[in-house]
Amino acid sequence: MHLRTLLIVFLLSLAYGEDRQIISKLNPGCPFPKTNKTLVYIQARGSHDTIHQVWDFTRGMPTIIYLISSLNSTLDVIWDDTEPSKFVLKGQRLYSFAATIDKLHEYDDIDNNGHIDNKCPQRAISFRNAVWSRSASVLTGQEAMLHMQGHFEEHWRKGTVDIKLDLLPYTDYAVDLPHLIHTANSTLVDIGLVNLTTSRDYNASRYAIHFVMLSTDSKQENMTYTMRKSLDDEHTPGVFEIFEIKTPKSYRSDDGGFMQFRPVGYTEPERSVSSSTNAYISNFTKTSLPKSSILKVFYEDYNSLLVQEMFISFGLPGDGYYRQHNYTSWSFTIGYGAPPVESFSLFVIIIISIGLGVPVLLALSGITYVLVRRCKQRNTPTRFTDDD
Ligand SMILES: *[C@@H]1O[C@H](CO)[C@@H](O)[C@H](O)[C@H]1NC(C)=O
Ligand SMILES: *[C@@H]1O[C@H](CO)[C@@H](O)[C@H](O)[C@H]1NC(C)=O
Ligand SMILES: *[C@@H]1O[C@H](CO)[C@@H](O)[C@H](O)[C@H]1NC(C)=O
Ligand SMILES: *[C@@H]1O[C@H](CO)[C@@H](O)[C@H](O)[C@H]1NC(C)=O
Ligand SMILES: *[C@@H]1O[C@H](CO)[C@@H](O)[C@H](O)[C@H]1NC(C)=O
Ligand SMILES: *[C@@H]1O[C@H](CO)[C@@H](O)[C@H](O)[C@H]1NC(C)=O
Ligand SMILES: *[C@@H]1O[C@H](CO)[C@@H](O)[C@H](O)[C@H]1NC(C)=O
Ligand SMILES: *[C@@H]1O[C@H](CO)[C@@H](O)[C@H](O)[C@H]1NC(C)=O
Repeated sequence: MHLRTLLIVFLLSLAYGEDRQIISKLNPGCPFPKTNKTLVYIQARGSHDTIHQVWDFTRGMPTIIYLISSLNSTLDVIWDDTEPSKFVLKGQRLYSFAATIDKLHEYDDIDNNGHIDNKCPQRAISFRNAVWSRSASVLTGQEAMLHMQGHFEEHWRKGTVDIKLDLLPYTDYAVDLPHLIHTANSTLVDIGLVNLTTSRDYNASRYAIHFVMLSTDSKQENMTYTMRKSLDDEHTPGVFEIFEIKTPKSYRSDDGGFMQFRPVGYTEPERSVSSSTNAYISNFTKTSLPKSSILKVFYEDYNSLLVQEMFISFGLPGDGYYRQHNYTSWSFTIGYGAPPVESFSLFVIIIISIGLGVPVLLALSGITYVLVRRCKQRNTPTRFTDDD
């Protein structure tokens, strides 16, 4: 009983111990408070620096911006009508990176291998004029969460793009599969492509997500991505790989930006091992900022930016393409610093300790028993032994 209480206290202190203080606001400084446009600003104060995050949907393309700056700095948003026109930082700028989903690609997977490649016929569906509405939000000192639903401008393309961003300012595993790790320095993002109409002239449609990633590193450098094997599949049954994209600064010194995900997507809202599918990452290529993106406003006065693009696509050979379920979802985390590494949980450690401890105890007690017996035998009066 006491052990259990201790355990719970220990777990709680692990989970809620320290980290960052967050303050989040919807459309801060906007002169039209009733606008249905959405920009969430989060200030996360640490002991050495402040992380400013901007989650922007005002220009159609879902965008996450990270700006790391000195302690006690503030970021103000200047609005032109209902669109941000300038971001003003009071404080010292240390580093910045961002990711935007500027479009989806619908591709005709004629070879039926799942991932997108240059050979597939494909068409881009831009988010520039997508209409977003807020379906839920939580903006408190303990959590910043925003759930958005988007619809495309083309009326024949029905369906919904679901995006949920969640910042929980402590380290823990996410509730949903694939149980990625979020920290005070990273945000968890879930994306769902729900009931999207596919093109008539493609009979093997799948959807790929197009990312543009940016960092305030030199143009000559490259983002890197690595695949790491994890021994621990306690949290994600059967999926042992973890992909990490790092900005050049993060690669060099672990104080840049990263994106982390598992190569797995889901074809049903109820995520499970049986509804999982593969997620593929394409190669990176250099590109420029998407037209009319909020990034153009935010990075107006930066001289050197590294901008790269890549695709995430989904599917397995012979799975019946997107139309089989009309649903694909996927999750990633994006954050600052060293990407979190999964550790064996306390539960597993206890199980292992018991597993190793019991035989060791048995062995020890066996040895003790034998030793005690020998001692006793030695000390037994000789007349008994004489009887033998
Ligand atoms: C930041 O603000 C706190 C109080 O708000 C103050 O105590 C601290 O000295 C400030 N730090 C810096 C570096 O300005
Ligand atoms: C937001 O408001 C504009 C104009 O006020 C309107 O045209 C648009 O349909 C609204 N969007 C949503 C998602 O409600
Ligand atoms: C978050 O970033 C700060 C540096 O800004 C670092 O000291 C801290 O360890 C990081 N926390 C986690 C959980 O990665
Ligand atoms: C998608 O379509 C299915 C079947 O038509 C329906 O049950 C489901 O509610 C739809 N989902 C959304 C989010 O519209
Ligand atoms: C799709 O159409 C192409 C020709 O347009 C055909 O060769 C292919 O077999 C079709 N695939 C399926 C799965 O029907
Ligand atoms: C970045 O990638 C390009 C193309 O793959 C390559 O030519 C270049 O040398 C790389 N730069 C660095 C600094 O590694
Ligand atoms: C990525 O690049 C490597 C070598 O540069 C190439 O072998 C591979 O086919 C490329 N992958 C894709 C999906 O284009
Ligand atoms: C998916 O949508 C298409 C029409 O876009 C429909 O023909 C098909 O039956 C749907 N599949 C499921 C599993 O609902």
